[in-house]
Amino acid sequence: MKIALITGASQGIGASIAKVLNKAKIKVILVARSKKNLKKIQKNITFPKYSKIISKDLRSLSACKSLNNKVKTINFLINVAGATKGGHFNKLSDKLWDDGFNLKFKSALRLSRIFWPTLKKNKGKIINIGGGAGAWEKPLRTFMIGGAVNAALNHFSKSLALQGKIDKVSVSIINPGMTLTGRLEKLLKAESKVTKKSTSQILKERSKAAKITRPTKPEEVANLVYKLIKDKNSNGKIIKIDGGKVKF
Ligand SMILES: NC(=O)c1ccc[n+]([C@@H]2O[C@H](COP(=O)([O-])OP(=O)(O)OC[C@H]3O[C@@H](n4cnc5c(N)ncnc54)[C@H](OP(=O)(O)O)[C@@H]3O)[C@@H](O)[C@H]2O)c1
Repeated sequence: MKIALITGASQGIGASIAKVLNKAKIKVILVARSKKNLKKIQKNITFPKYSKIISKDLRSLSACKSLNNKVKTINFLINVAGATKGGHFNKLSDKLWDDGFNLKFKSALRLSRIFWPTLKKNKGKIINIGGGAGAWEKPLRTFMIGGAVNAALNHFSKSLALQGKIDKVSVSIINPGMTLTGRLEKLLKAESKVTKKSTSQILKERSKAAKITRPTKPEEVANLVYKLIKDKNSNGKIIKIDGGKVKF
C-alpha cells in the first residue's frame, strides 16, 4: 500500500486531499496541530484503518524532524499547511512574517529534505500547494506575506524538480486561486478591515478581475493532487486552478 504524508490535513484543502487519496486506497498520514479536528477527519474518511494522525506544530525544524521518528517510509509528501496572515503592511510584524515563512515555506523545504531518502528509494513524489498570489495573481497590498511565501515555494519547487529529475523524485506545485475554505473567509475579513469594503463586495470584485464565476472547491484541488499522483510525467509541473478550471 502506498503512503502519503499530508500536512495541514485537519481542515480545508488538506482534509479534502486526505479524503480523496484514502478513498483511492492510499494510506494517509494526517498532520496538523488540532488533534480534535484531525480525529474528526480521520473518522470521516473511507478507510480510517489506512490512516494515522500526528498532532504537530510544524513551524520548527525539531517538529519537522520528529515526524521522521514516527514515519519511516512514504511515497508521497503533500505540503499543504499554511496560515500566512493578511492585513495592512504596518500591522504585519516580524513575528507574522516569520510564522508565515516557517510554516508554509520552511516546513515544505524541511520535510522535503528529511523525507528525500525514502522518496528517492520509493521513486516518490512531492506535491506542494502554493497559491495564485505570488504565482499568477496580481499582487495585493493586503496579502504580502502569503504572496512572498508562495513565490518562494514556487521557486523552490522548480529548483527541487531539477534535483528530482536526477534522483527520480517528482516535484510539482499546484497554485490555487480563491478556494472555499475557512482560510478564505478569514482573509476576506482581513482585507475588508483595510479596504472598508464588505467581504461579498471583495469576493465579487476579485472574481470579476480573475474572470471566474465562483471560487474553486477544495475537492477540486484534491482531485488534481490525485491526478498528479497518477501522472507519469508530473515532475516540474506548475499548475494553476482557478474557478475550478485547471491550467498547466
Ligand atoms: N483557501 C484559499 O483560498 C487558498 C488559495 C490559495 C492557496 N491556498 C493554500 O492552501 C493551503 C491550505 O489552505 P486552506 O484554505 O485549506 O486553509 P485552512 O482551511 O485554514 O487549513 C490550513 C491547515 O494548516 C494547518 N496549520 C495551520 N497552522 C499550522 C501549524 N502551525 N502547524 C501545522 N499545521 C498548521 C491547519 O490545522 P491546525 O490549525 O489544526 O494546525 C489546517 O489543517 C495553504 O497553504 C494556503 O495558503 C489556499
